[in-house]
Amino acid sequence: MFARRQRVDGPPAPAALGHSDAMVETRGVDVTFRSKGRTVQALSGIDLTVARGEFVSIAGPSGCGKSTLLRVVAGLTEVTAGEVTLRGTRVAGPRRDVGFVFQRAALLDWRNARDNILFQAEMRGLPRDRSRKRAAELIEMTGLSGFETAMPYELSGGMQQRVSLCRALLHEPDVLLMDEPFGALDALTRENMNVELRRIWEATGMTVVLVTHSVAEAVYLASRVVVMGPRPGRVIEEFAVDLPGHRAYEQTLESAEFQRVGAAVRELLGAAAAGD
Ligand SMILES: Nc1ncnc2c1ncn2[C@@H]1O[C@H](COP(=O)(O)OP(=O)(O)OP(=O)(O)O)[C@@H](O)[C@H]1O
Ligand SMILES: [Mg+2]
Repeated sequence: MFARRQRVDGPPAPAALGHSDAMVETRGVDVTFRSKGRTVQALSGIDLTVARGEFVSIAGPSGCGKSTLLRVVAGLTEVTAGEVTLRGTRVAGPRRDVGFVFQRAALLDWRNARDNILFQAEMRGLPRDRSRKRAAELIEMTGLSGFETAMPYELSGGMQQRVSLCRALLHEPDVLLMDEPFGALDALTRENMNVELRRIWEATGMTVVLVTHSVAEAVYLASRVVVMGPRPGRVIEEFAVDLPGHRAYEQTLESAEFQRVGAAVRELLGAAAAGD
C-alpha cells in the first residue's frame, strides 16, 4: 500500500536540498483578502520548503494565517503574490495530490465510518474495488477495525478524527495537510492520536504539514517546527528537531532536546502574543 520508509534518520536538512527533493515550496507568498471594503493581509512573503518525507509543524498566534497557508498549498486559496509548487509543479487550483484533515472531523452523519472514508473515492471517481481494499487497510492501520459500520454518533471524537484521517489518505496523496486536527480532543486522546500519527508517519514516509496550537504536539511530531509571527503572517523562526526517528512518548517528552525546542518555541510565541 505505502512505500516503506527507506531511512530512519529523517530527511536531509532543508539547506541541503536539491529542487527535486522539495515536496512543497512557497516563494514570496502574499495573501490579501478583500471583502466588504475591508482589506486583510493574511500572509506576507512566506518562503517555506518542505522536503519529501518531512514532517513539519507550524505554530503561531491565532489569526496569523496558518490555515490560509495550508489552504494555499492545497490550492483552495489563491495567492496574491508569489508562487507555490507541489512536486515541482505550480499550484493553480485544488490539487488531487494532497489530503486535508480539518479541525472538525466533518463526517457525513448519515454514512457509517467506512462509507465516510469511501466518500473520498466517490468524489474523485476512483475505482470501487481498489478503494474498498485501501479503506480496509487504512481502517486497520488506524485501529478502527470492528467499527466499519458504526455511525459517526456512535464514535468517540478521537475515532471520528481517525475516520477523517483515513478519508484524507484514501486517494494516496503525496502530502497530508492537517489543520489543528486534534484541537477538539481531550488531552489523553490527543496524546494517543499523536503517538498514532507519528507511528503512521514512520511507517509510510509521507510528507506532512501540521498546524497546531500545542507546542508539545508540534515538537513531538515534527522533524522541523516553523513558527509564524502575528498578522500579516510570516515565518519568524524554524527549529530542526534533533530527536530519533522512532519516538517513545514519555521518553521523548522528558528528553533535553524536546524541552529545548519546546522552550524556544514557547518563548517566541509568547513574544509574538505580547506584540514584540
Ligand atoms: N476567506 C477569507 N476572507 C477574508 N478574510 C479571511 C479569510 N480567511 C482568513 N481571513 C483572515 O485572514 C487572517 C488569517 O486567518 P487564518 O484563518 O489563516 O488564521 P489562523 O492562523 O489559522 O488562525 P487560528 O489559529 O485562529 O485558526 C485572519 O485575519 C482572517 O480574518
Ligand atoms: Mg486556523
